[in-house]
Amino acid sequence: MSETKAKGVPLLELRDVSKTFLKDGAEFKVLEKVNLEIDEGEFVCILGPTGCGKSVTLQIVAGLIEQSSGSVILDGREEHGPGPHKGMVFQEYALLPWRSVRENVELGLELKGVSRKERHRIAGEQLEIVGLKGAENSMVHEISGGMRQRAAIARALANSPRILLMDEPFEALDALTKEEMQIQILKAWEKTKTTIFFVTHDVDEAIFLSDKICVMDINPGRVKKILENRLPRPRHELVCRTDREFGEMRDQIIQLYSSLKDEELDLVF
Ligand SMILES: Nc1ncnc2c1ncn2[C@@H]1O[C@H](COP(=O)(O)OP(=O)(O)OP(=O)(O)O)[C@@H](O)[C@H]1O
Ligand SMILES: [Mg+2]
Repeated sequence: MSETKAKGVPLLELRDVSKTFLKDGAEFKVLEKVNLEIDEGEFVCILGPTGCGKSVTLQIVAGLIEQSSGSVILDGREEHGPGPHKGMVFQEYALLPWRSVRENVELGLELKGVSRKERHRIAGEQLEIVGLKGAENSMVHEISGGMRQRAAIARALANSPRILLMDEPFEALDALTKEEMQIQILKAWEKTKTTIFFVTHDVDEAIFLSDKICVMDINPGRVKKILENRLPRPRHELVCRTDREFGEMRDQIIQLYSSLKDEELDLVF
């Protein structure tokens, strides 16, 4: 997708983003000068071992926590704090159990004062995109984990965010459902053309989904390498994981991490 576009101003830019937390009275550097650019319509994954600061990076972009230094620039403007233009989907579904699937998807639109009829239309459209047509009136407890995550994605997309931020959204799902969801998110991305910034520690997931992979290092968390992913699209068939190019990309990533000690590595290969 990004290949066909002329290189312009990126949609999102992280410039020298660093983050220090206080731990037991001492300063603890979690992120050191993270630089990353994401173009409009791109699907970018951050990949890295546990504790390297993937979630912190995403939370800074979301505006949930503030960086200690550096800047986050979205649409050419410096960002501070959260907003509906940044959709979020995390591992926990965070759906409201007392509302139906449709009512959950309509939540953000309701808060914006969108009319009932329009809310219905948008929610219906987004639920269809994530493959939840027919489950609109189910309550959250009546649907599976995979369906809940689809509903969470539909809810985020319903607000037409400039960027969708996803933090290991499929980690709590069983292996087959996780694979189904990976295909589903690619389909939703192709239909909506929403820019996606996706955190994972699953190497195959990053390769399967992304245009670009930001491989992170740990202690302190920093960008180790940014890899362009030129695997052809569409990639709706998981069989592409057995392709030579897929294997080469996996080897490249394994090489990048081979310098890390085993105990620091919890990547799924
Ligand atoms: N609010 C906080 N206060 C203090 N330390 C924090 C806070 N949030 C995260 N950290 C620390 O920052 C480091 C990076 O955390 P982060 O959650 O970003 O890791 P991660 O790469 O997402 O790991 P995982 O793959 O396990 O989710 C960790 O050492 C964590 O303990
Ligand atoms: Mg995390």
